[in-house]
Amino acid sequence: MVELVEGPRMFNVKCGIVGCGVVAHNKYIPAVKKYAILEAVCDIREERARRTAEVWHIRSYYTDFTDMLEKADIDAVLILTGMDIHADQVVEAARMGKHILVQKPLATKLDKLREAVEAVEKARVKVLVEPNVQLNPIYLKASNIVEGIGSPYWFRAGFGRHPPSWGEHTFFSKEGGGPLFDLAVYEVSLLTFILGPAKSVTAIGRISVPELDLVEDDYLNHHLPESVSKSVWEIIASAPRTRRIRVEVEDNVMILMEMVNGAIGVVVSNYVTPREFARPPRVEVYGSTGFLDIPVHSSRNPVISGAVKIGGTVETISIDGASLGLVEHNGWFSWDYYEASVKHLLECIVTDREPLPSIRWGAHVSEILIRSLDSMRSGRSMDISYRF
Ligand SMILES: NC(=O)c1ccc[n+]([C@@H]2O[C@H](COP(=O)([O-])OP(=O)(O)OC[C@H]3O[C@@H](n4cnc5c(N)ncnc54)[C@H](O)[C@@H]3O)[C@@H](O)[C@H]2O)c1
Repeated sequence: MVELVEGPRMFNVKCGIVGCGVVAHNKYIPAVKKYAILEAVCDIREERARRTAEVWHIRSYYTDFTDMLEKADIDAVLILTGMDIHADQVVEAARMGKHILVQKPLATKLDKLREAVEAVEKARVKVLVEPNVQLNPIYLKASNIVEGIGSPYWFRAGFGRHPPSWGEHTFFSKEGGGPLFDLAVYEVSLLTFILGPAKSVTAIGRISVPELDLVEDDYLNHHLPESVSKSVWEIIASAPRTRRIRVEVEDNVMILMEMVNGAIGVVVSNYVTPREFARPPRVEVYGSTGFLDIPVHSSRNPVISGAVKIGGTVETISIDGASLGLVEHNGWFSWDYYEASVKHLLECIVTDREPLPSIRWGAHVSEILIRSLDSMRSGRSMDISYRF
């Protein structure tokens, strides 16, 4: 029996986590323990589940999600598994009446997406679909002033980076992986927040780097005790990469988007940009009377700066990262949306409010990504039907 250590907390909500991988250890376990009660964890890898419970002093662990839902005394569950598994787990959790935080994307297939939305709407549970852009102070500022640029005509957004060095299934499998679901989701989310829904997408993609060396799966299990005091990204960055894998999914992607409001633009997303060339991601939106240049969720500089031109004057937007509560990681500052989301979901549960990134909005974003994949593989343009 592991020792149970509870600190001061704000919400009397009992939570479970499924998927004890990198993001769970880096972000969600500390956040849940800070604000609520982390009652149980679950991972199909028994050793990982058991060690996670030991290291973080969590009452119980499971290797089967259904088992955790049935046996653990939990009000809410955080779904942090591979991207193609989320929708099925949302359906199961909703049917069991659990409130849900689900990492992006909500689904990687349309039939699964529909099932997830139906199950949630029927169960009337609270669901927060990541990534939460609605609470980010930089994006909020952009959405408040976007009207000043007049009619939005076009935009460009992009995020090229090196590939993750872990998570073969999570990031490189054909149906569940790739930068489309993993990275483009951030820009697509932000663009739909600022410009409203998308009408159609056309995409191209290819596998540019067909083989990669990853860190052994067991490496994280053996280094879990360090995750209490050190970022798992750092632990893994220095690990030997000794396991060669084949990349099954397009790792170099571009989406052309047409928005309902008439703006058109491109979202670039890839895992093929060497670390030393990667530029901080941005979203630029150009309108009839001005433009917005928005820094996206990370920057090398503690002063987060973008630019806005409205009515003929160009102004630099500078926001002190520290005063925004941005966290530093390897010289990069970023908005900790993970912690903000956990706190927001808990607030919504106890005050009976709907989370801001709603299930319909999450479905719209997932549909954009799924239709982009369809477009990439069929060569056709695709309409988007979910609205928020
Ligand atoms: N790692 C990050 O920095 C990061 C950041 C933002 C978002 N995310 C998202 O979080 C999710 C998880 O990413 P990660 O990096 O932690 O991946 P990961 O591969 O490190 O962890 C996923 C975990 O889920 C477990 N799992 C898989 N199927 C399961 C099942 N059916 N039941 C129980 N456990 C199961 C795996 O064994 C693994 O431990 C993904 O959707 C990813 O896009 C990750």
